[in-house]
Amino acid sequence: MEVGKPEVTFVLGGPGSGKGTQCGKLVEKHGFIHLSAGDLLREERNSGSKDAELINEYIKEGKIVPVEITCNLLKKAMEANGWDKSRFLIDGFPRSQDNLDGWNEVMGDVVNVSTCLYLNTSEDIMTERILKRAETSGRVDDNEEAVKKRLSTYLESTIPIIKHFEELGKTVEVDSTGEIEDIFSTIETSMKLVEE
Ligand code: C5P
Ligand code: MG
Repeated sequence: MEVGKPEVTFVLGGPGSGKGTQCGKLVEKHGFIHLSAGDLLREERNSGSKDAELINEYIKEGKIVPVEITCNLLKKAMEANGWDKSRFLIDGFPRSQDNLDGWNEVMGDVVNVSTCLYLNTSEDIMTERILKRAETSGRVDDNEEAVKKRLSTYLESTIPIIKHFEELGKTVEVDSTGEIEDIFSTIETSMKLVEE
């Protein structure tokens, strides 16, 4: 860990790949601070701020909100949690080249991105999980039509970012098919959080 700089793990994967669930477990057991870009955007939308309407339109369409908004929310949340001596899990970001460029511009020199945790499972499983979650989530984008859009955004825009981190030797890929506990164990060993 570089002295004085917060350490960041990006957590990426399609909708329903298990990002939020696994981040919750990493917080519980390994003391990370979890920031979900999607949660921060929904919070900002619900606050009725000047960006609320725009954010809601993007979310409904499964499109990626301009990075100025998202990166600013992330930065504020990191500051609110204590800037240094912290290990952050940033979930659902960077989802596109625009996200990555905006992040690098603002955060490139002040944080250390150590890892990109990539949760990978099939489109069928992701769709099934989201439609199950739709029964209780109340999210405007948890329905069949929006899931299709979110999956195509993931394939077109997010996969290249995961590949980029792979080229930097930072991507840790975990198969997120199956049971929550089994996936979590694989994450723990793959991220070297426990002895093998
Ligand atoms: O990650 P999550 O499924 O909560 O994201 C929900 C939606 O929030 C995305 O489909 C997208 O519209 C928006 N989002 C975004 N940029 C991000 C993360 C999420 O625009 N980096
Ligand atoms: Mg989530």
